[in-house]
Amino acid sequence: MRKGKILVTGGCGYIGSHTVVDLLQNGFEVISIDSLINGSESVLVGIHEITGREVVNIKCDLSTDHSIEILRQHASDVDGVIHFAALKSVGESVEKSLLYYKNNIKSLINILQLVEEMKIKAFVFSSSCTVYGETKILPVHENLDFMPTNSPYGRTKQMSEQIIADFYLKTSKESKAVSLRYFNPAGAHNSYKIGESPINPPLNLVPIITETAYGLREKISIHGNDYPTRDGTCIRDYIHVMDLANAHTLALKHMLTGQQTNQLEAYNLGIGEGVSVLEAIYAFEESTGIKLPYNIGPRREGDLAAMYADSTKVKTVLGWEPKYSISDIMRDAWEWEKVRRKLYK
Ligand SMILES: NC(=O)c1ccc[n+]([C@@H]2O[C@H](COP(=O)([O-])OP(=O)(O)OC[C@H]3O[C@@H](n4cnc5c(N)ncnc54)[C@H](O)[C@@H]3O)[C@@H](O)[C@H]2O)c1
Repeated sequence: MRKGKILVTGGCGYIGSHTVVDLLQNGFEVISIDSLINGSESVLVGIHEITGREVVNIKCDLSTDHSIEILRQHASDVDGVIHFAALKSVGESVEKSLLYYKNNIKSLINILQLVEEMKIKAFVFSSSCTVYGETKILPVHENLDFMPTNSPYGRTKQMSEQIIADFYLKTSKESKAVSLRYFNPAGAHNSYKIGESPINPPLNLVPIITETAYGLREKISIHGNDYPTRDGTCIRDYIHVMDLANAHTLALKHMLTGQQTNQLEAYNLGIGEGVSVLEAIYAFEESTGIKLPYNIGPRREGDLAAMYADSTKVKTVLGWEPKYSISDIMRDAWEWEKVRRKLYK
């Protein structure tokens, strides 16, 4: 049975490529649009090897005016859109704020214009826990007000959610939307044919851990062990990228089968358990048998002591259940690190 055709923006990126696999394995057809600014069409080979299905990528910068014409040509028969395409480096967004506002906001506006013109029934937006800003309330619940956030990147996500809310106040009631607020995605597909391949040096803990284990970094610098947490290091909510991917499929099915009553919903996507930096390091050591060198440095500006999700809503409404633990995340991230270093040598 035809489940529907989904336009995936940013389908050649990290989370996009894993979601394409989950969509194909759940019977959807997929078309990708990606400018390749931070992605590579080589992931389409991995997707083919995993699923046996060909996916086409249309190379196009969605923040340009002419992209809307390209979208019209390729998206006339799509049932849903998942909008991953964005720049995502917090640090770079401080240096290049206009680039981030133009890329992330203009792309969203173009995509929403397409949704309106083509009467697309379901729209999923890649949001982030950064929308909660410097909150003191934990675990964070979807109904919390957004607090100030410390980067242009975070503000593009807050503004995007506002733009989507304004748009869905007035657009056709037949069209539904979901914002998925990701916590800390990590790991790779367990075929190790796709995974995260950052072009710039990563600032996230899991790739820093795997690069250290591979010998590309001398040691891990832990930014502060004097936070008010159980071992003094920062706490985050790590979610396996395939668990994250599956939530997109569930959100689309929920909208396309008419089960979503509100026009716009937001769901947190975290496991709901915080893991400290030290606990993450120990989880890697236990899962792989590799000892990691680390030292304790000063705090890093802008880091929150802890951030983790209340994920009750996504579990009860969409029936989402994470399948992977922090040990699985570490094992898959490590296996992928070894594969990709050989692939790209
Ligand atoms: N990875 C994370 O930790 C994380 C956390 C929270 C939210 N997010 C959000 O999830 C989404 C996907 O993140 P990711 O980790 O897969 O990033 P990624 O950089 O691997 O993938 C994004 C893809 O979008 C493409 N792209 C960017 N701007 C584009 C444009 N103007 N036109 C067309 N294509 C464009 C890039 O080339 C890339 O392939 C982003 O919106 C990001 O902000 C990611």
